[in-house]
Amino acid sequence: MEQPLYHLKWSAPSNIALVKYWGKKEGFQIPANPSVSFTLNNSRTIMGLKVFKKGVLNQSDFPRFKIFFHGEEKESFKAKISTFLLRLYKAEGMTFLDEYDFVFESENSFPHSAGIASSASSFAAMALCFVELDCLHKEKEFSFEQNIEKASDLARQGSGSACRSLFEIAASWGDSDKGDQFTDVYATSISCHEIYSSFKDAIILVSEKEKSVSSRAGHALMNNNPYAKARFTQAKQNWELAINYLNSGEWDKLGPIVEEEALSLHAMMMASRPGYLLLEPHTISIIKELHSFRKQSNCPAYFTLDAGPNVHLLYPSEVSEQVKNWIESLQEKFPEAFSVIYDEVGTGPRREEV
Ligand code: PMV
Repeated sequence: MEQPLYHLKWSAPSNIALVKYWGKKEGFQIPANPSVSFTLNNSRTIMGLKVFKKGVLNQSDFPRFKIFFHGEEKESFKAKISTFLLRLYKAEGMTFLDEYDFVFESENSFPHSAGIASSASSFAAMALCFVELDCLHKEKEFSFEQNIEKASDLARQGSGSACRSLFEIAASWGDSDKGDQFTDVYATSISCHEIYSSFKDAIILVSEKEKSVSSRAGHALMNNNPYAKARFTQAKQNWELAINYLNSGEWDKLGPIVEEEALSLHAMMMASRPGYLLLEPHTISIIKELHSFRKQSNCPAYFTLDAGPNVHLLYPSEVSEQVKNWIESLQEKFPEAFSVIYDEVGTGPRREEV
């Protein structure tokens, strides 16, 4: 194949929500409530974008592209990326995209079958590629800082929570009555006490199976959920508290809110019509073990969950050894059950060498 006109590469991390986005308002990927997350460091997607002149791929209609994941062409990824590119073209006015054909080459830094959703890291990295391409095409100088909100807005249109993966340490997304900087359109950085910049996230992988109900279907089920209104009120209250405790460094107060959020998220799934359950027996065993470990040791490790059975343990770096020892004792108790990825809070995306 001929040489690309441009070759861009960005890596972006995944993020873990402390206050959960679950349910959408009218519009395109507009959250029903504000959310806030830690940006991770090691769980990343590295996204290469090769831009060719139109026609190279011999495909007829826009968008014309191929996607490779760890070197293998992935037809199953195409639908979501097509929707994303059509949004950029139609809603974002990036009509110049029709002048090109695209090849994406993506890789995850975490194991393929880890059961970690990579849509947040993928769309954050992809959005950065297109924001930079927009500048190159217009012969404008690109700066990450000046384009971070734009990139977050585009990332949101690929996968809602992806918009929070652009910011260091912690990010908030969604309207609130706490000021104009909080919007539904893109995420913003949250000012955090210094203890959080070295925070850890041990991701305990209890199942590597694909989710039985996608996040997309899960969000949609909130439309008809009898508890939705109460949930959105609770999330708004928890968001406000979380922003305060991120600021003040009061993890002993934030931790319980984070656990409440995880349980409420899964309660919403169970109370949907039809209800469903993404927790596995080991998820529950680990949560119960954690609660008795915390009671005995006073170790400030708190759990959260995303839309799946894996347990994220969040804790300050000073107790890393203690938590590691506890996880090892857990592995002895349930030898067949799980593997662990040790991650931490990070500084966000990076432009990578091509
Ligand atoms: O971004 P989506 O559509 O994959 O939804 C993410 C939903 C949760 O991970 C469960 C919560 C969140 O705020 O990240």
